[in-house]
Amino acid sequence: MIEVIELVKKFGDFTAVDNISFKVNKGEIFGLLGENGAGKTTTLRMLATMLRPTSGRAALKGYDTQKEPEKVRAQIGILFGGETGLYDRLTVAENITYFGELNGMSKAAIRERIRYLAQAFGMEDFINKRAAKLSKGMKQKAAFARSIVHDPDIMLFDEPTSGLDVTAARDVHDFILRCKEEGKTIVFSSHSMSEVDKLCDRIGVIHKGKLVDCGSVEELKKKHGDDDLEELFVRLVGAK
Ligand SMILES: Nc1ncnc2c1ncn2[C@@H]1O[C@H](COP(=O)(O)OP(=O)(O)OP(=O)(O)O)[C@@H](O)[C@H]1O
Ligand SMILES: [Mg+2]
Repeated sequence: MIEVIELVKKFGDFTAVDNISFKVNKGEIFGLLGENGAGKTTTLRMLATMLRPTSGRAALKGYDTQKEPEKVRAQIGILFGGETGLYDRLTVAENITYFGELNGMSKAAIRERIRYLAQAFGMEDFINKRAAKLSKGMKQKAAFARSIVHDPDIMLFDEPTSGLDVTAARDVHDFILRCKEEGKTIVFSSHSMSEVDKLCDRIGVIHKGKLVDCGSVEELKKKHGDDDLEELFVRLVGAK
């Protein structure tokens, strides 16, 4: 479903992503785990066609991110932490509707989808509130819902739960798991061991732009003889 081959991104002399390769199968949740500045966002931005790789390539559903960016974009829902991209003057429902229309959805399909997403994210209470008046967590939920209004097969989320409280984070987790049940393929980045442990079929550990290990949580625990994912992570990124 997703194929990343020897991806490199340099900013001037600095190598932010250093020869990363991995594959994600259909229906898998893949977590990119790494410290601040490891290269997670940069990797996701290249997958999302927002950033051109210096070398290497990535393909999503067989479409090359550089040769067929429009085709790639039609297959993906993306949410990047911080920038919610919501229009303050529009309500949550209007924001979602606008994005649905941009993606060529019918009004009826959008209405149906909003009902589903409002329920799935517990947004019923503020679905008709203007984005400007929402709390940070509410905004994040709305942005999340908006990013997947068109029901894409692949979802790319950069720290989807950052800034959310426990309940809101759990809503997002439940939603990600439900998407997986529907056969979606999900890649997300995280600093949180428990989140990665709970959600991911496989994880890629990134450190200073390099993929230092990749596999299922169980595989990694076995391979490194450590049951504690946090310990394992510290050792993996400390060792390099
Ligand atoms: N546009 C840019 N120009 C120059 N350097 C950049 C740019 N974008 C990212 N970098 C650098 O690339 C490295 C990787 O950044 P990236 O944002 O991918 O890290 P990250 O793993 O997402 O970190 P965080 O957990 O803090 O979000 C960092 O050292 C960062 O300063
Ligand atoms: Mg980041």
